[in-house]
Amino acid sequence: MTPSSRKPRASSSGPRAIVVLGAGGHATAVLEVLHAQPAYQVIGCLSTDRSPASGMDVPVLGDDRLLPQLRHDGVTGVCVAVGDNAARQRLCRAAVEAGLSLVSAVSPAALVAPSAVVEAGAVIMPGAILRAHVRVEEGAIVNTGAILDHHCRIEAQAHVAPGATLAGGVTVGAGAMLGAGCTIVPNVRIGAWAIVGAGSVVLHDVPERVTVVGNPARVVAPSASQRPHAVESAIAAEKAR
Ligand SMILES: CC(C)(COP(=O)(O)OP(=O)(O)OC[C@H]1O[C@@H](n2cnc3c(N)ncnc32)[C@H](O)[C@@H]1OP(=O)(O)O)[C@@H](O)C(=O)NCCC(=O)NCCS
Repeated sequence: MTPSSRKPRASSSGPRAIVVLGAGGHATAVLEVLHAQPAYQVIGCLSTDRSPASGMDVPVLGDDRLLPQLRHDGVTGVCVAVGDNAARQRLCRAAVEAGLSLVSAVSPAALVAPSAVVEAGAVIMPGAILRAHVRVEEGAIVNTGAILDHHCRIEAQAHVAPGATLAGGVTVGAGAMLGAGCTIVPNVRIGAWAIVGAGSVVLHDVPERVTVVGNPARVVAPSASQRPHAVESAIAAEKAR
């Protein structure tokens, strides 16, 4: 099947027809959240992988080359559900350039304070808690059971993994990844594209593009999982914005 051989069906009334970009484990979890949002009907997903993860109960329509075609077929929204932060950033931009709007997925089982703001394309998983005046920017992920206390700010395309606990006033820079179960004390800033190891306890600001682990968290290396070329292209893309 070519990317455009299967036509999505979009209707002008009722729920908005959208697609999920991604077909892996994270996409499966995001899809469940979207199924609980009556405003949307997910008509399919886009992936280079023809064998989606188990639980992807929508068809693979093609890969991201199909994005411009979807707009013509009446699809207006896309939820980018790819776990890698740099890849998600690239795909969010491709979707917007194709004229599609970014759709956020906010689980009804998350606790989101009335004053909290969740921007387009962000994903808030079940059990997450967003307290007063929290801001989650475009394409960021707040994963299962993560706690963001008052005035935390999660910048674009960052990922707060399951069970992380952020005390009040923490800022997580763009593209940063906070590992599962880590703890960040109040008012700390995590630099852009930094990585915090699972279970680490962060007591001080973390520079950009480093990996910190342990209790107290210390720098172990320049960000190993975010290879230099990926980081440099991400920085160049940010400058070009
Ligand atoms: C921090 C992390 C990214 C490091 O991965 P890496 O770059 O491949 O680094 P390595 O595994 O080579 O480890 C480097 C050193 O840090 C230590 N280390 C790694 N992760 C650690 C952690 N979470 N806590 C404490 N020490 C850790 C290793 O033991 C190793 O120490 P050594 O040099 O004394 O042997 C990874 O271990 C991690 O914690 N990832 C988080 C994953 C996660 O939570 N994902 C959520 C998905 S939803």
